[in-house]
Amino acid sequence: MEYKACSLNRVTLLKALILAGGFATRLRPLSCTRPKVLFPILNKPLVEWILEGLSKSDVKEAVFAVNSQTAFHLRHSKFSKSGIKIVYSCDPPKKPLGTGGPVKRAEKFLDEECFLVVNGDIFANISYGEIIKMHKDKNAIATITLHRVKDPCRYGVAELANDGRIKRFIEKPPAGASPSNLINAGIYVLSQEIFGYIPKGRKVSLEREIFPKLVEEGRLYGYMFEGLWKDIGKMEDYFELNKILLEIFFEKGKDVVKGVGEISPPTVCGKGAFIGKGSIIGPYTVLGQNVKVGRNACIKNSIVFPQASIKDSSVINGAVIGENVVIGKRVKISENCVIGDYAVIGDDVTLAKGVSVCPAKEILESVTTSKCVF
Ligand code: GTP
Repeated sequence: MEYKACSLNRVTLLKALILAGGFATRLRPLSCTRPKVLFPILNKPLVEWILEGLSKSDVKEAVFAVNSQTAFHLRHSKFSKSGIKIVYSCDPPKKPLGTGGPVKRAEKFLDEECFLVVNGDIFANISYGEIIKMHKDKNAIATITLHRVKDPCRYGVAELANDGRIKRFIEKPPAGASPSNLINAGIYVLSQEIFGYIPKGRKVSLEREIFPKLVEEGRLYGYMFEGLWKDIGKMEDYFELNKILLEIFFEKGKDVVKGVGEISPPTVCGKGAFIGKGSIIGPYTVLGQNVKVGRNACIKNSIVFPQASIKDSSVINGAVIGENVVIGKRVKISENCVIGDYAVIGDDVTLAKGVSVCPAKEILESVTTSKCVF
C-alpha cells in the first residue's frame, strides 16, 4: 500500500468521501433507474471521471456515502476504480442523512487528520493538492472549493476575505441578495474536528447548519477554483456538461463506428454503435455503446444511452434517450424530451417539446403537450 506525506510529522493515507445518496429528483425519469453518479458523461460514468481525478491526486481510498438503491447500482456496475479502494457507508433505511449526516456516519472510515468530501454530481478538472495544502496552512476545520458563476442563486454563495476566510455563507440566496458570485463547488477538505460539529443519527445539512457555525468561529476557508466545473443537478446542466466536453474532447473518427451514416462534429459514438445509410448524427451528439441507428434518421443535440435502437427515418433533436429504448420508424422527438430506460416509442409517433416518458412505458400515440407520461 502506498502512503503520502500529509503533514510534517505524520504519514497519512489520503481518503475521500463521495456523497452519492441523494435521490436526484430533478433528473427523473433517468434517475429512476440509475444514481446521478452513474450518469454517462461522454459515454463514461461520472463516477469514473471523479475517481480518475482523485487517483491523480493520490487518493487511495474512497468512501461512497449512499442510500441502499445507490449501493445496489454501484455494486452491480462494472465501473473502473482507477486503483482506488472502495468502501460503502449506507444511510439508514428510509432515513436520508442529507449532506452532513453521512460525513458523521462514515467517521470510523475517515480516521485521517484531514480528508476530502466530493459531491457525486460534479465534474471538475481539479487537482486536489492545492486545496489540501491551503486547508493545512490555514488550520481550517473546513475549506470549501469556490467557483465563479454568472447566476449564483441556485447554489450556496460565499463572501471571501482577503486572507481566504469565508466571512459569510448563504445557501441559495434570493435573487439580488447574493453577497458575491462565488459558489460552493461541492468539494471540501475537512479536519477531524468537524465530527464534533455534526450531530449523530439525523439529517444534517453541511451548507445550512455546519458552515454558518464555522463562519462565526472564523474556521471556514474558501479555495478559488478557476478551471472547468459543472454540476449535473438538472437536465439542462447535464446537457451543458456533455456539450462542453464534446467541444474539448471531440475526436472525429477515433471511436469505432460501423455503418455508412454521416457524422457531423462534435459528436462521439460509443463502441459497437452502428449508423445506417443516409443517417446524419450530430452535431453535439453522444451515441452510447451498441446504439443502432437505422437508415435516413437524423439525431442532433442529443444524448443516446447504450443499447438504444432508433429505426429508419426518425428525427431526434435536443433529447436524452435512455438505455435500451426502442424508437420506431418515422418518430419525431423534439427538444427537452427525456425517454426513460426500456421505453418503446411506436412507429409514426411525435413527441412535443418537453415530454418525459417513464421507464419501460410504451407510447403508441403522439403526445402533443409537454408532460410526463407514466
Ligand atoms: P435532487 O433531488 O435533484 O435535488 O438531487 P440530490 O438530492 O440527489 O442532490 P443534491 O444536489 O441535493 O445533493 C448534493 C450531493 O449530495 C449529491 O451528490 C447527492 O447524491 C448527495 N446527497 C444529497 N442528499 C443526500 C443524503 O441524504 N444522503 C447521502 N448519502 N447523500 C446525499
